[in-house]
Amino acid sequence: MVTRSVCFLLLTVTLLMAYRTKNGRTYHDPSRYPWPNDKQEQQRQVMLHEQCLISNDGQLVCCPQERYQRVLDIGTGTGIWAMEFADKHPGATVIGVDLSPIQPQWVPLNCNFEIDNVELEWTWSGDFDFIHGRMLGGCFEDPASIFNKSFEKLKRGSYLEVADVLLIPKCDDGTLRPDSQLLRWAGLLAKAADKMGRPINPASRYEQMLAKAGFEDIKVIEAKWPSNRWAKDQKLRVLGYLNSKTLQEELEAISMALLTRGLGWGSFEVNVLCAYVRRELMNPNIHVYFPFITAYGKKP
Ligand SMILES: C[S@@+](CC[C@H](N)C(=O)[O-])C[C@H]1O[C@@H](n2cnc3c(N)ncnc32)[C@H](O)[C@@H]1O
Ligand SMILES: *[C@@H]1O[C@H](CO)[C@@H](O)[C@H](O)[C@H]1NC(C)=O
Repeated sequence: MVTRSVCFLLLTVTLLMAYRTKNGRTYHDPSRYPWPNDKQEQQRQVMLHEQCLISNDGQLVCCPQERYQRVLDIGTGTGIWAMEFADKHPGATVIGVDLSPIQPQWVPLNCNFEIDNVELEWTWSGDFDFIHGRMLGGCFEDPASIFNKSFEKLKRGSYLEVADVLLIPKCDDGTLRPDSQLLRWAGLLAKAADKMGRPINPASRYEQMLAKAGFEDIKVIEAKWPSNRWAKDQKLRVLGYLNSKTLQEELEAISMALLTRGLGWGSFEVNVLCAYVRRELMNPNIHVYFPFITAYGKKP
């Protein structure tokens, strides 16, 4: 028993030395949105954008809409999606809205960024004919009310499309043990986020939420994002490689924000858990993937 705890302690110390957390991350307001907004996070968002494109075979949009005039991108972040969409559709006007002023100054002429909180009343005059929101888990107290506002602000026959990765590790071949730290971590994160009032995995309910808001022709697409390069399939291998990078970038930052504030953990405990989670995430013999959900619906 004693040797076991000594081994455990030694392993913990070794892991902590190998993966010391980077301090000094900056957040917009970690009590309401657990991801940072600094340069490192902006780079992660740009990498995630590439992941989304690869996952969608190069498409910025999955829904069957053909013409676009006035487009809204909710929680635009670095604005990379909004800018690429504006470049691709010169006849459309794109508005990207975010809490954080982290968008570049030099942007396509048909793309505008606004700083605003979309949980408050929407003050845009006029309707949109496409609304897009990506990677918004953990942003909203009540994602359903954002869907309702989108429904109100959309023209008839136009779409709302939302996409999010679920921070829920899945495994189809039993290589992820039920007592893994990874599963424990994911459960704790979700619990902390719920406690703080902003669920991080709303995408598992997107279909019902779209239906309840009144959308029709709803479709949900579920892709797999492997945890690292374990997959044999070429596309999944590339996605896994990128995903391992973006997961490493966010692991400590979101765990720190959620577990210290939501569950009252100390930063040392968080670092220890992250060290174990990182090891499981990077282990190519553990075949974990995270579902990447895209859901859209049309306003009748
Ligand atoms: C993970 S980023 C996603 C960025 C972008 N959609 C993408 O896919 O590249 C989520 C963004 O939502 C923003 N956000 C969070 N809560 C918000 C709110 N209530 N109103 C507007 N933006 C919000 C955050 O500031 C952050 O930039
Ligand atoms: C959204 O709209 C639907 C249909 O009008 C309504 O039943 C539901 O309560 C609304 N939800 C919120 C959060 O406003």
